[in-house]
Order: sequence, then structure tokens, then C-alpha cells
Amino acid sequence: MIQGAFLLPEFDHPSQPRAMNFKAPQHTAVSSLRTVCTLLLLAGISGAAGNFPTYSWRDAETQEWLLCQQCPPGTFVKHHCNLRSPTICQPCPSLHYTQYWNYLEKCRYCNVFCGEHEEEAQACNATHNRACRCQLGYYAHGDFCIEHSACPPGSGVVTLGTPNQNTQCQPCPKGTFSSNSSSTERCQPHRNCTTLDMFLNVPGTSFHDALCTRCASFSSSTPEPDDKECEQALIDFVAFQNISLKKLMRLQQVLESTGSWQREWPEPESRAAVQKKLLLRLTELSEIQESPALLPWLLSTFQKAKLTTLERNIRKRFSFDLND
Ligand SMILES: *[C@@H]1O[C@H](CO)[C@@H](O)[C@H](O)[C@H]1NC(C)=O
Ligand SMILES: *[C@@H]1O[C@H](CO)[C@@H](O)[C@H](O)[C@H]1NC(C)=O
Ligand SMILES: *[C@@H]1O[C@H](CO)[C@@H](O)[C@H](O)[C@H]1NC(C)=O
Ligand SMILES: *[C@@H]1O[C@H](CO)[C@@H](O)[C@H](O)[C@H]1NC(C)=O
Repeated sequence: MIQGAFLLPEFDHPSQPRAMNFKAPQHTAVSSLRTVCTLLLLAGISGAAGNFPTYSWRDAETQEWLLCQQCPPGTFVKHHCNLRSPTICQPCPSLHYTQYWNYLEKCRYCNVFCGEHEEEAQACNATHNRACRCQLGYYAHGDFCIEHSACPPGSGVVTLGTPNQNTQCQPCPKGTFSSNSSSTERCQPHRNCTTLDMFLNVPGTSFHDALCTRCASFSSSTPEPDDKECEQALIDFVAFQNISLKKLMRLQQVLESTGSWQREWPEPESRAAVQKKLLLRLTELSEIQESPALLPWLLSTFQKAKLTTLERNIRKRFSFDLND
């Protein structure tokens, strides 16, 4: 019995008979010719006759070794050739395939099944086994499909993930930023306040954009920058101070404990998260403290909390002197 183990790799040339006692009597040539015709009909191709792969097969009646034609991809051997008839090939039943010229007595079962986070890359058909690939947003790692990584804030995507490769990230180079954790966003260039006809309020970092404002200073009495603009500038300026994370969290603590509720010392977290909370808290405070009272209030709070460098920076930035 010929089993699936006889599946042969691709044939460029007719295979040589393997049996030692193989004979090539005249009628084999005739038989071969007829097989070729059958195959031509089956495969629906024309020309190139005589170039089909063969196999040796012992005829059951005569015990004679014959040279049989193999069956083309998509078919299997229904009947081996004998002295009267060439090989009879039959198309594979559904969900079965043969990829190469063969002398299998059964087609192979499409035994690949797509797993979790996989999709069909190639359907099972008469000539191909089913093939799978990782679905969109996933890549192959060993036997698994793993979700593409997001680049954390401060770094951006260099190469998008593919079905075979994870996202590639890089820390944002000078002059660019990425504020989001994302598997698609690249580092974006900082906006240029000068070309927007504004002042640079907070220089951009790899984590956030440059923050521009029309507020030159609180003391300036020019009509243009109104108090709201300056208030926002002040909030941004405080929240995005380029100070250590430890100091930033101390600042958060100072601002939180002055409000209507107490919070515990904040859990250690990312700079971006602390800055976001600071922004929210300062906005909240600005709504409680009527503008322009926020500024002197912040200055006295920071003074009491011994955040003197911050206090000094704010005075310098907004040309504000409490003694005025
Ligand atoms: C089977 O699938 C392969 C690859 O997708 C394709 O090249 C071939 O034409 C298909 N065969 C049939 C009979 O549909
Ligand atoms: C970051 O994500 C927010 C929503 O989460 C979006 O509004 C914003 O545009 C994103 N940032 C950039 C630079 O695309
Ligand atoms: C902003 O643009 C101006 C003029 O286009 C240029 O001279 C300046 O270097 C730019 N600043 C930044 C921070 O890119
Ligand atoms: C922030 O401060 C550090 C040192 O304290 C300095 O190296 C860095 O250039 C500063 N970044 C910005 C955007 O000013």
C-alpha cells in the first residue's frame, strides 16, 4: 500500500525508476503515451508532452515493473497504471490537497488551522494547505501572535509592526516629541512659537510639544494678552517645570493639600502622568482663585513650601514682583 509518506518534493525532471529489476518493454512506452494524453486532458494544458514525472509500479497481474505517470498537483492516483490502462488521476476532494506531482492514493488533509489572533493567509484548496498569518496589529513570535508594542511617551515609531515583526521605537530626537503611548505615532517636531507669532512659554521636550503663549508678562498693561491667556501660560509654566520628578511630585503634594480634600503622598508614577495631574489641579485652582489672584497665591504657596527656585522662575518669567 502506498501511503502519504510517498509524497515527493517538486519534480523538475521525471523521476528515475527506483526498482533494480525495472524493464522497459515496448508497451510501457505506449502506456506512457496514453498516460500523457490523460494527464493533458486532466490538467488542461497543452504541449510539453513527454515531460511528466513517472514512478515504477509492479503490475498486480503480471508482477512486471511498469513505468507509470504521476498525477499533477490537485489530483491523486485513483488507479495505478497497468498493461492496458495509464494512471487514472482524480481531483482531490474538498478540504484535501496535493501540492506536487505525486503518486499518492489519497490527497492530504488540510491540517493547518488558524489559532488565536491569526487569520487565513491562504485558503485550503486542491493544491495548497491552509496557511495562517497574524491578524492586523499582531506579529509572529515563536508559535504565538503577540500584539504590536506601543512606543511609550517620549519615544516614537520608527517602523510600523508587520505580521512578522514588532513595532520599532526610538527615543524622540532633539526637537521632536511624542506625548502618547502608541504603536503608530512617530515623533512629531515641536511647534515653532516664533513662526506662530507667539512667545515660547515652555520649551518642548521629548514628552510634550513646545507650549506657546501670547502672554508676555502679567505686569504688562498692553491690551492684547488678556488675563485668561496669562493664567493658562502660568498653569503650563508651573505644570511643565523642567525639575526632577521628585520635586514635581512635591509640587503636586503642595497643590493637592491646599484644596478642599487631602490626598496621600502620590504613588510613584511617570513624569507625564504627574504633569497631567498638575495641569488638572492648577486649572481647578484657577477656577477657585479668581484671576489674577492665582499668581500671587501660587507664589506665596511656593514660598511657604520652600519651592524657592520655582517661585523665582515664575517671577522671572512673568516679570512679576509682589512688592510692586
Ligand atoms: C490555490 O491557492 C493558490 C495560492 O493561493 C493559488 O495560487 C491557486 O491558484 C489556487 N488553486 C485553485 C485551484 O484555486
Ligand atoms: C494623543 O492621543 C490623544 C488622544 O488620546 C489625541 O487627541 C492626540 O492627537 C494624540 N497626540 C498626537 C500627537 O497625535
Ligand atoms: C523657528 O523658526 C525661525 C524662523 O523660521 C527659526 O529661525 C528658528 O530657529 C525656529 N526655532 C525653532 C526652535 O525651531
Ligand atoms: C531640563 O534640565 C536638564 C538638567 O536639569 C537639562 O539638561 C535639559 O536640557 C533641560 N531640558 C529642557 C527642555 O530645558
